Amino acid sequence: MIKIAPSLLAADFSKMGEEIVCVENAGADLLHIDVMDGSFVPNITIGSPVIASLKRISKLKFDVHLMIKNPERHLEAFVEAGADMITVHVEGNYHLHRLIQQIKGYGVKAAVAINPSTPLSSIEWILEDLDMILIMSVNPGFGGQEYIEFTTRKIKDARKMIDAKGLKVDIEVDGGINTNNIHKVVKAGANVIVSGSTIFSAPDRKSIIRELRERALNG
Ligand code: DX5
Ligand code: ZN
Repeated sequence: MIKIAPSLLAADFSKMGEEIVCVENAGADLLHIDVMDGSFVPNITIGSPVIASLKRISKLKFDVHLMIKNPERHLEAFVEAGADMITVHVEGNYHLHRLIQQIKGYGVKAAVAINPSTPLSSIEWILEDLDMILIMSVNPGFGGQEYIEFTTRKIKDARKMIDAKGLKVDIEVDGGINTNNIHKVVKAGANVIVSGSTIFSAPDRKSIIRELRERALNG
């Protein structure tokens, strides 16, 4: 089963609530929320107070992608705001294992993201503790970028690594996904698909989500 996770970053921020209700009614499975601090990545987006407000108007599971330095200082605030799953980056987090245990200690799902240039081996020893890995298919910081082609091989290798260990870890892919490349990433082994600009720039969100699902399976 493929899960489609619209990325809020591409929504019209002047009507964020309406945009979320719209993709929820259009059949989204999760809401992907990009939190950026202007330091780990060049851009600044939103934080826990905004997420807490949005949680009141949506039943979607909130998939919170933290692109921030010192995430351990903010985990509790994001959990209280309503995160159902928290993703932290492997890069720069020296005590990743501790961080993952901390997230799980709050009773939410835990995931680790890796940037395009980061080797898959960086998560080898943490894999068993994870609910999901997030493979970045663009450099984090901005929506609307082009899919980096070598990511496909990384997804394949990640699926092999997970299967070889007999684990049930989801693979999420994030960045540059559209109706033309979704089949390729799903065939490689991804099962949670983030899509920002493709979904939010489409006038009819229901038909674009339907098309993404259809193309994911049939190409
Ligand atoms: C990039 C973010 C992505 C981004 C994806 O740093 O993590 O979630 O919003 O947007 P698109 O689908 O437009 O590449
Ligand atoms: Zn993201």
